[in-house]
Amino acid sequence: MYKHLQERYAPRPPVNVGTLVKMKAEGEKIASITAYDASFATLVDDAGVDVVLVGDSLGMVIQGHDTTVPVTLADIVYHCRAVAKGLYRPFLIADMPFMTYASKEQALDNAVRLMQEGGAKMVKLEGGAGQVEIVEFLASHDIAVCAHLGLKPQSVHKVGGFRVQGRENEAAERMLRDAQALEAAGADIVLLECIPAALGKHITEQLHVPVIGIGAGPDTDGQILVLYDVLDITSGRKPKFSKNFLAGRDSALEAIKAYTQAVKSKEYPGPEHCF
Ligand code: KIV
Repeated sequence: MYKHLQERYAPRPPVNVGTLVKMKAEGEKIASITAYDASFATLVDDAGVDVVLVGDSLGMVIQGHDTTVPVTLADIVYHCRAVAKGLYRPFLIADMPFMTYASKEQALDNAVRLMQEGGAKMVKLEGGAGQVEIVEFLASHDIAVCAHLGLKPQSVHKVGGFRVQGRENEAAERMLRDAQALEAAGADIVLLECIPAALGKHITEQLHVPVIGIGAGPDTDGQILVLYDVLDITSGRKPKFSKNFLAGRDSALEAIKAYTQAVKSKEYPGPEHCF
């Protein structure tokens, strides 16, 4: 059956931007996770996840790179197309890889590819005030945008490592100003990575759009984790905010369901996962 016909009769219709705004208003936590293929997409949908991101983290967890920098647009299009095939209810976001949004025109061309070829409903890009013009341009073409602030993995070589951002007052104030500027430019979601929990709470309270956090404390409107961290199959050192939800469970589906429930019930993240 065509997806739009399914939607008409669905007891739980597909998530859209309006759903996420309503969830923020009603205080229902948004459970989000990454996925990179159709099989896992089907599992995360069955587990009740609201938002799925085809993240450029695939450069690390799938391709084995040390950073997300080598990921190309073609990589994201390929994985996004597979994920889109496995999803029905969750809202699908695709990452714009490193240097695929260096100009307004380039950003528009590439966002269109992620939507038309990949099946994404929203694109995510990293950056602060410097991306306001790009976000404005995409929004003026009715492209839904998620703005990623805090730790920006694509800037790892400029920043000199993966570390907590916004600890000092000045940096925290700048991050809030950037988030507000991006919201005013038309960003539909803000994602905050690796920042102090108090700052995650403050930014979430100041914005009208939903805020999804990863290592940003318990008070953002939703949480996101890398699927392979949830299943504890990421090799090497684990980030402080990650949690193995497979422990004590006997299937990936049960682990992802447990993650979703823990986000919804506000059990995750606990104090041990926060900065
Ligand atoms: O690439 C990714 O998976 C991400 C998440 C960590 C939020 O950006």
